[in-house]
Amino acid sequence: MNIILVSAECAPWSKTGGLGDVAGSLPKALARRGHRVMVVAPMYGNYAETQNTGVRKVYKVDGQDMEVNFFQAYIDGVDFVFIESPVFRNLEHNIYGGNRMDILKRMILFCKAAVEVPWHVPCGGICYGDGNLAFIANDWHTALLPVYLKAYYRDNGLMQFTRSILVIHNIAHQGRGPVADFIYVDLPEHYKDLFKFYDPVGGEHFNIFAAGLKTADRVVTVSHGYSWELKTPEGGWGLHGIINENDWKFRGIVNGIDTKDWNPQCDVNLTSDGYTNYSLETLKTGKPQCKAALQKELGLPIREDVPVISFIGRLDHQKGVDLIAEAIPWMMDQDVQLIMLGTGRPDLEQMLRQFENHHHDKIRGWVGFSVKMAHRITAGADILLMPSRFEPCGLNQLYAMNYGTIPVVHAVGGLRDTVHPFDPFNESGLGWTFDSADANKLIHALGNCLLTYREYKQSWEGLQRRGMMQDLSWDNAAQNYEEVLVAAKYQW
Ligand code: GLC
Repeated sequence: MNIILVSAECAPWSKTGGLGDVAGSLPKALARRGHRVMVVAPMYGNYAETQNTGVRKVYKVDGQDMEVNFFQAYIDGVDFVFIESPVFRNLEHNIYGGNRMDILKRMILFCKAAVEVPWHVPCGGICYGDGNLAFIANDWHTALLPVYLKAYYRDNGLMQFTRSILVIHNIAHQGRGPVADFIYVDLPEHYKDLFKFYDPVGGEHFNIFAAGLKTADRVVTVSHGYSWELKTPEGGWGLHGIINENDWKFRGIVNGIDTKDWNPQCDVNLTSDGYTNYSLETLKTGKPQCKAALQKELGLPIREDVPVISFIGRLDHQKGVDLIAEAIPWMMDQDVQLIMLGTGRPDLEQMLRQFENHHHDKIRGWVGFSVKMAHRITAGADILLMPSRFEPCGLNQLYAMNYGTIPVVHAVGGLRDTVHPFDPFNESGLGWTFDSADANKLIHALGNCLLTYREYKQSWEGLQRRGMMQDLSWDNAAQNYEEVLVAAKYQW
């Protein structure tokens, strides 16, 4: 099959969260299964490994002519195509920056160009647009793509066999605006109703995600649990009605992880400063060495017996950072160390700094985003906290388990799908879960986890080993995506 994944971010070139990781690694797994795969993303900076294809096009956005260039690189069996335009330039650290209109116009330009890439940019001399083609769009940023495919091509009798899949990574962002925004998307008038949406919070408004969900041939959510939650008024963020109506299109597929990048055996971030690579066989010596190196690097007392609890992620309401904050007085009564890494809301960043000042021998709050530190913390910590209020899939818990770090999570979305609770009677399970976003529940789960860490060393090691032995690679997920693509192809 010819598959084109379209995403507003793509690691390692651009990333604000898990979406970037998925766009960087799922395509490679699909290519390994024998498909011809292309990724299309905006070009936010100078990407040294890419070449200008010489193809240039002009698209109209809000009545203005905008020229774009297409850059290309062939890496690990995948054609990466980047759309270059002054509106994307220098946004690598601020992909979603600017006001609502700026972002909307950028995404319109991006989708208009992306839907035409298979015909204009012959990768390796071949065009992707020669039939048997499927687009995989991601989140609201590219939810216009299925609509453009229909309006510009299929409605005119073209590309009848090209399919579109829309993946929901996060429904909380939908591309909402006033109904009048419809003029910007440049579609025939009869498409207006597709975008018009009503809910009690927003009233009648323009909603890009809604239009994409109705138009795409299939919809994938990044876990089974999330697929179910989206159908409820709490989980659907207003769109649950549309989601229920289109239920037959939905399929949950849990993300994989890049097992080259996130592998304690060959993680390049563990080769210096006292850290070490480790595997299941060397877990008992390697992980403590990483823990000591982490304590040293962060200036915490170097002690093997003290449990190191970690949090890595955006500092915001979704990630439940405030629940950790509420639990901190309790935690500080225990003999533990807590390491938190992330950026986000200024008040929460400030809070991290204060905690660190007040409990200098126990807490480190690293405000910033550092890939290196994320890897080192994952290797050196004993426990990872993820009290997310909602979590469509979540990748950090998967990384943690692959490194023998035990997750303590709020049982929602992908967290519930992937962290099976520890059962001391059967010595089964992978971590601890709690069933509502409440600091006392977090404390209860963490308390049981700490008790096991201290008193039941064998159970702890069992948890670590089971986590590390899982196959968390993209191969499974890629096979499931393939099934969805095939189902979409044969639906008519
Ligand atoms: C979003 C979700 C996260 C998911 C990621 C990749 O960032 O919030 O749960 O893991 O997308 O699908």
